Amino acid sequence: MYQNILFEVKDKIAYVTINRPEKLNALNFQTMSELRDVFIRIKNDDDIYAVIITGAGEKAFVAGADISELNKLDAVTGREFAERGQEIFNLIENLGKPVIAAVNGYALGGGSELAWACHFRIAAENAVFGQPEIDLGIIPGYGGTQRLTRLAGKTKAMELILTGRRFTAKEAYEMGVVNKVVPLSELMKEAEELAKALASKPQIAVRMAIKAVNMAYETTLTDGLHLEATLFAICCGTEDFKEGTSAFLEKRKPVFKNK
Ligand code: COA
Repeated sequence: MYQNILFEVKDKIAYVTINRPEKLNALNFQTMSELRDVFIRIKNDDDIYAVIITGAGEKAFVAGADISELNKLDAVTGREFAERGQEIFNLIENLGKPVIAAVNGYALGGGSELAWACHFRIAAENAVFGQPEIDLGIIPGYGGTQRLTRLAGKTKAMELILTGRRFTAKEAYEMGVVNKVVPLSELMKEAEELAKALASKPQIAVRMAIKAVNMAYETTLTDGLHLEATLFAICCGTEDFKEGTSAFLEKRKPVFKNK
């Protein structure tokens, strides 16, 4: 169905694998189009509760945007290129379902930016992050200057984006930009356990939580709190809220219907 992406759904979990290992899964135009398509499908599929995205092979998650395509950009097409990529990564960030990046090796440039747009990042010990765009004469264009700054803080983001230096999974963890570091052999198992745990939660509350947390960087505190109260109220109108609270009081396990 796709040329550069593997897509599978199993037990409410979607698995998206970027599959261009001979080019270290670099994101060319075709791959970006396929990513857009697959995430629209996932968004619209009520039977998918969580997503794991990873790269094919053991060497790379995604080694960046495809430099052979970057090389041809000019001031006009460059803007289109960045905006198109931003739209796709915004789609992921606002999917309404948790997306876990299982980072298996190089996550450079657009690869790091893809990971920053996900809701969780589990890194294999061999993961290498970086925003090396500066050495190509550009800056990150798929959200890196904004999301890395929000995740890591301005001091670190400025350093990493201006030097372009790579950083290890361990450093990423110490910086607070990845959730967990695990041996490569355990990466998919860890991601799957997390996805299963997330899939067992009441899905309306999951969606509201993602929306509320995402908005924390978009609004004033007053507006953010207003939105939080509205989303909280929506949760209070669900059957799952009644079930969750009743189950607690009755000392039993809740059975959520995602209604
Ligand atoms: N765009 C296009 N092709 C890429 C690529 C990218 N971002 N990253 C890797 N490749 C290709 C290489 O050109 C090579 O193709 P070839 O076999 O046809 O020559 C193949 O993938 C394997 O990469 P190679 O460089 O030989 O592997 P390596 O182990 O020596 O180095 C990296 C791995 C990741 C350090 C190196 O490939 C690299 O620096 N890539 C670019 C990273 C980057 O700057 N990304 C940001 C882009 S905005």
